[in-house]
Amino acid sequence: MKVNSPHQHRFLVKGGIPLKGQVRVSGSKNAILPILAAALLTDEPVTLANVPDIADVHTMQGILDFLGVKTEFKSPLFKIHAKTVSDKEIPHELVSRLRASILLLAPLLVRNKRARLAFPGGCVLGKRPVDAHLKALQALGAEVVEDRETLHLCATVGTRHTLSLRGANFVMTEASVTATENAVIAAVLARGATTIRFAACEPHVQDLCHFLNAMGAHISGIGTHMLEITGVDRLHGADYSVTSDYLEAGTLVLAAAITGGDVEVLNVAPHHLDVFWQKLSEAGVRFTLGKNSVHVFPSQDLRAIRLQTAVFPSFPTDLQAQFATLLTQAKGTSFIFETLFDGRLQYLYELEQMGAGFKILNPYQAEIIGPARLKGASVASCDIRAGAAILLAALAAKGQTEISHVYYIDRGYERLDEKLVTLGAKIKRLA
Ligand code: EPU
Repeated sequence: MKVNSPHQHRFLVKGGIPLKGQVRVSGSKNAILPILAAALLTDEPVTLANVPDIADVHTMQGILDFLGVKTEFKSPLFKIHAKTVSDKEIPHELVSRLRASILLLAPLLVRNKRARLAFPGGCVLGKRPVDAHLKALQALGAEVVEDRETLHLCATVGTRHTLSLRGANFVMTEASVTATENAVIAAVLARGATTIRFAACEPHVQDLCHFLNAMGAHISGIGTHMLEITGVDRLHGADYSVTSDYLEAGTLVLAAAITGGDVEVLNVAPHHLDVFWQKLSEAGVRFTLGKNSVHVFPSQDLRAIRLQTAVFPSFPTDLQAQFATLLTQAKGTSFIFETLFDGRLQYLYELEQMGAGFKILNPYQAEIIGPARLKGASVASCDIRAGAAILLAALAAKGQTEISHVYYIDRGYERLDEKLVTLGAKIKRLA
């Protein structure tokens, strides 16, 4: 029998079934990736709990293995022991599978005094330069040489035998998530004090900082746009549990809402989603928040709203496509303003094939005209969140939808299809 690679998996979804029951959110993709990179800063063992079994974690594990680091992943536990870290150049084929591989720049630089990395790949989401990363690392004393394909960085502070980075006071060129993470990873073992202003403060950036503190780092201002770090001489191993994934939580809530379902989502940190809850109420979704959970009730009469993405604590770009999909079912014209990415409205062309009404005004803005009767079609997922959005549309559509390229969904969501099936959804994975 021929077995297709996971890249060729498809979903067959029979829509129109209100979801019902309880579902648990997994650990955060965007927290575990920088945490795995940061674990290279110590030569002692690190054990991580609540690690999601997703394709991006396996890809990162492949890169760590390539670097000679000992890893063992039995979800939800990930053990990592970076006794030594090789300084050979990571092949482009590995780096290009996920953009988060850029997070290896800082730990390689700190551990080996130099880092060589091909330009990263990942989801195609418009222009995503690496300037913010390089400027922050330069401020900490790194020298950067880039050719067309590879970034070369080296530490320049001290003598040949004592090379390191030095603390600095600088402003990020933008509140970039992974650039802030690289800057923090580089600063914790730098000589002296660092102040990073205009830092990103998303829940996953906070989680990385808490993990580093658990390893003996001194970071304060966590959760704000100004991080203060006192460099230490060494970090030790740690046991740490990764925070829950607020983007998965939001996606599951929207799946419940778009099907008119009655679902309790567990293992949620409600304060990670403040503006999301505001927008959900505004759109007419009925729900109650618990300490670590949210209960979504069947709602009718959804209303059109204005949705604008921005950095934390505002509305996350990584829930824009899924929320806009809900708005295809709302009465009136909603307005979507994606302020971060210039390539993140492409999913609308897939939704169009399912009957959604919209007008793209420019690369950042669109109107969603609702309510539309969604119907099954053959569509493709084009990035992690677009894939999730299309899956939500399929759950609400009349008839059968075939979704190709579900590998993107698997990159960022732990068994999303299986979780939805436990809530009554009819989804078949075609391998
Ligand atoms: N941007 C601004 N202003 C800012 C900050 C960012 O316009 O103040 C723009 C950037 O120019 C860029 C985009 O926003 O075009 C994203 O910037 P950022 O550098 O913050 O993105 P990233 O660090 O490459 C991380 C997540 C993405 C998420 C973005 C934005 C990880 C591994 N990746 O990427 O996650 O969309 O932050 O929050 O943490 C996903 O999970 O599906 C995903 C793409």
